[in-house]
Amino acid sequence: MRKRRILAISALKGGVGKTTTAVSLAAACARAGRRVLLVDVDPQGCVGASIGLDGETGLDAWLVGEAAFEDVVARENRQNLDVVVAGARLLAAEDQLREKGKEKRRHRLERRLGELDGEAYDVVLLDCPPSASLLLENAWFAAHELVLPAKLEPLSLPALERTKRFVAAIDAGRPRPLRIDGVLPDLLRPEDSRVGRDTRRDPREVHEDPDPIRINSALAEAPRTGKTIYELDPGARGAVDYALLAEDLGLV
Ligand SMILES: Nc1ncnc2c1ncn2[C@@H]1O[C@H](COP(=O)(O)OP(=O)(O)OP(=O)(O)O)[C@@H](O)[C@H]1O
Ligand SMILES: [Mg+2]
Repeated sequence: MRKRRILAISALKGGVGKTTTAVSLAAACARAGRRVLLVDVDPQGCVGASIGLDGETGLDAWLVGEAAFEDVVARENRQNLDVVVAGARLLAAEDQLREKGKEKRRHRLERRLGELDGEAYDVVLLDCPPSASLLLENAWFAAHELVLPAKLEPLSLPALERTKRFVAAIDAGRPRPLRIDGVLPDLLRPEDSRVGRDTRRDPREVHEDPDPIRINSALAEAPRTGKTIYELDPGARGAVDYALLAEDLGLV
């Protein structure tokens, strides 16, 4: 049996395409026949809305043990793609976690995902919040790998460096370093395709950086319709780019 892969889609910056990447990559993997679990770890709760799920409860209740996985997972929505939405009370759940001891509070999501051994998921994707928080730490400890979406413009580069420094700090508490699969250049205008190649290189990165995700109006439109890019417009550039990303990462 293949080993389950758990990926955090994360960057310490807002609006760089984390949620778009988490949702579209999840859909690309599911479409290719992988069993996927998508978990929204961001209290903004954009995953649910962007794929047409309005669950009141989700990770908020599951994380703190107020609900079982079975009660929070949306399974019927799409083939091969199960979703745990953030839930309306995820910030309150984070507060509740803060009262636990240091180790317990940072490893709660890891523990919850560890309880899913009986589930057939090949890939678990975690959509992360944009700033450092206990929830983000939980996602990073739960994940094996990190995909770092980045708009490659000068103002984004410090955020990229900050993210990498935070990852290195987290590694001190992990048995194995959190693998950075690569910086994913996204929201890329065609004329920018060479920007930042050199600044992206980092010896910690095991893979070559994946191919970029280009700006695509269908990707921007999809969340407003509650559809994934493959449901809205499977021939769109964004659909092609995310299918390639799934391949690049060896997920399909
Ligand atoms: N490749 C793309 N082409 C066009 N629009 C995109 C693309 N990727 C993302 N967007 C749009 O950019 C905006 C920000 O994307 P998204 O919500 O995925 O970022 P985020 O990093 O999750 O933001 P936040 O930090 O608020 O969670 C959204 O309106 C989204 O639809
Ligand atoms: Mg987001």
